[in-house]
Amino acid sequence: MNEIPALEMHEVQRAYGSLPALRGVSLTVPQGTVFGLLGPNGAGKTTTIRLLTGQLRPHAGQVRVLGLDPVASSRELSRKIGVMLEEPGHYERLPVRSNLRFFARLHGVGAERVEELLALVGLCGKAGEPVGRLSRGMRQRLALARALVGSPRVLFLDEPTAGLDPHAARGVRRLIEEFCGGQGTVFLTTHFMEEAEELCHQVGILDQGRLVALGNPQDLCRETLPEQIETVRGGRRLLRPPGLEDLFVHLTGRSLE
Ligand SMILES: Nc1ncnc2c1ncn2[C@@H]1O[C@H](COP(=O)(O)OP(=O)(O)OP(=O)(O)O)[C@@H](O)[C@H]1O
Ligand SMILES: [Mg+2]
Repeated sequence: MNEIPALEMHEVQRAYGSLPALRGVSLTVPQGTVFGLLGPNGAGKTTTIRLLTGQLRPHAGQVRVLGLDPVASSRELSRKIGVMLEEPGHYERLPVRSNLRFFARLHGVGAERVEELLALVGLCGKAGEPVGRLSRGMRQRLALARALVGSPRVLFLDEPTAGLDPHAARGVRRLIEEFCGGQGTVFLTTHFMEEAEELCHQVGILDQGRLVALGNPQDLCRETLPEQIETVRGGRRLLRPPGLEDLFVHLTGRSLE
């Protein structure tokens, strides 16, 4: 395959004042794949998304999205990417449907697409409610619908399933898989190791602004960890296959929590 990668970061550094948040991050995400960025609070995950979506400039290194510089080509890219932030701002007093219609108009998209998205994220029953009255999980799903409104080629999702009930979280995972099956690329952050193992073709584990692991989750575990991990439950020794959480502990000596 010689198509351009969806995302590329080369030796990217970024600080806030004197605090280095990213200390030389390099990664490549092929089109049509799901990349998961993992790491403890403050590791630099949201900073990475802000750099990839052109909200921040790198202090060193290169960032490319579909071959373009996300700051210099922000207008062109705004039609090709969808972004769901950690704390999405909505128009609180406007109903759900009007919120979505507002963003649909910005993208030159008709009302039909709005109804399609409301159904997709399971908000048809709340379409007439002011956003201020939605639960946290519903606001999250509205943010996802907003990210999808322009039919983007690359979707950035900052902790898309945080605060969702298990049913809604599963719905979002299915949505991500379908989006990817249609040749879309997804870059997400998550604290849920099992979610990353299930969804992601590639994961990166960030620790204090550095990638300590990068690759396919199953391969990473197989290459680095023993075949079985001993655990003690109820006084009995049990062996289980290792996962990404074990990998993080192995690499950093700390737990992800
Ligand atoms: N606007 C800002 N001004 C100053 N420091 C910031 C700013 N945003 C982030 N930081 C700092 O940069 C580091 C990385 O933050 P970032 O938000 O990227 O972490 P994160 O991995 O997304 O964490 P979390 O899991 O809590 O969302 C942290 O030390 C944070 O305090
Ligand atoms: Mg964050």
